[in-house]
Amino acid sequence: MSHTMVIFGASGDLTSRKLIPALYRQFHRKKLPKPTRIVGVARSVFTSEQWRTQLAETTEKYAKADFAADDWKAFSESIYYLPGDISNEQDFHKLGAFLNDIEGDQQTDRVYYLSTMPQLYATAIAQMGKAGLNVDNHGHRRVIIEKPFGTDSVTARQLNDSIHQTFREDQIYRIDHYLGKETVQNMLVLRFGNTIFEPLWNRNYIDHVQITCAEEVKVGRRGDYYDKAGILRDMFQNHIFQLMMVTAMEAPVRYTGEFVRDEKVKVLQAVRPYKGSDFAENGVRGQYEGYCEEEGIPDDSQTETFAALKLYIDNWRWRGVPFYLRSGKAMSCRTTQIVIQFREPPHMLFGEQKSYRPEANRLVIQIQPAEGMQLHFQSKVPDSDMKLRLSELDFRFDSNGKELPDAYQRLLLDGLLGDPGLFARSDEVEQAWRIIDPIIAAWKSPAAPTLYTYEPGLWGPTQSSDWMHEQGRNWFDVCPMI
Ligand code: BG6
Repeated sequence: MSHTMVIFGASGDLTSRKLIPALYRQFHRKKLPKPTRIVGVARSVFTSEQWRTQLAETTEKYAKADFAADDWKAFSESIYYLPGDISNEQDFHKLGAFLNDIEGDQQTDRVYYLSTMPQLYATAIAQMGKAGLNVDNHGHRRVIIEKPFGTDSVTARQLNDSIHQTFREDQIYRIDHYLGKETVQNMLVLRFGNTIFEPLWNRNYIDHVQITCAEEVKVGRRGDYYDKAGILRDMFQNHIFQLMMVTAMEAPVRYTGEFVRDEKVKVLQAVRPYKGSDFAENGVRGQYEGYCEEEGIPDDSQTETFAALKLYIDNWRWRGVPFYLRSGKAMSCRTTQIVIQFREPPHMLFGEQKSYRPEANRLVIQIQPAEGMQLHFQSKVPDSDMKLRLSELDFRFDSNGKELPDAYQRLLLDGLLGDPGLFARSDEVEQAWRIIDPIIAAWKSPAAPTLYTYEPGLWGPTQSSDWMHEQGRNWFDVCPMI
């Protein structure tokens, strides 16, 4: 069996920064099935040889220590480039002939990766259909689709409908690179590969859950896209909801793509829709100072670069436990973490200490850039009367000192080998939009809650901390030690 990956949007940044380095690294680690051919398609006109030369430079930069000249030479012999325009049907027929030619009569699984502008997804797929590129023929045909998948539930549904005219659902792989992160998959192992956490993982022991995706970077050169998207579309509908799903889901019957995705989607189905005053009270909006001066941003933009939401998951496990979700650009540090905040002990035996108030147990799961987890608990200060102090069990998710694989490495391999478990299903994507749509609409309406500004380098607007204090809680605002 041989494999081919066709990348539409080959001249784009994602291809050189993520896709090719990820495929190269898998080759270097001898994990890429042999033979795997890569065919880039974009409008720019250059030859395969010219594309290989460009990619050699960028791959050396992004694959860093994994880059070895000999390996690159062997890997790049299977890279091809074909100029093509998505609006031109003939170019798809040419692509088909080109693929048949390089694949010969070998049984080949083909994956088409859509890394183009999202507006072109539906057209590209329809053209593939017209050229017969979707038909399983001497091997499987699959399509990987980058985010954003639609801009709301209506457009996501339309896109699903239109793709389903060409590809079956089992051929469609909607990528969310957070699912490719080793530490996100480790959440499933933590929860379902151990017995000690599960009995505590519910409303009886957990006061609330915090999921934070903080970034230090600003919008950079993506202003044009970002100002239309805002943080709810850019981070919540996809990445943060994925983290919420793996935190909250029930154990699947078996570890297979369909069973896992069935359980994940049930979490979204159980999210309590906002009503009435929830829109104003259950969230905080922020924009960093100087955002409107960035390239591509209108002077009077009201787009959020920070948001915090409080959601409830109405099922037996989570009823009454708030999930606080927060993300922002231009924050104190880059950190993605999930905090499981346990309840206070029902009765405190050890008298009040003047300068120390014991905190309840907390499990901090570090997704990135630190990778690991810490369990916070109280212990006795040695050689004191019964004085308490906060102690910590620290686990580092380490692969023998080596850098963990990039999320795209795992996902591209799964795409080539036909494992859909770490990709989003159509119902999951649509359900996620159904939660976010009304919040976006309310936040755009005249009754929107105030858009607070915040100084870059902080944890978002100070009102976000005030909001937590009013609820008797605190954000866990700690930059990870790496
Ligand atoms: C992307 C968003 O999907 O995820 C970006 O469009 C964001 O705005 C990025 O910076 C974050 O990904 P990661 O892997 O760096 O946390």
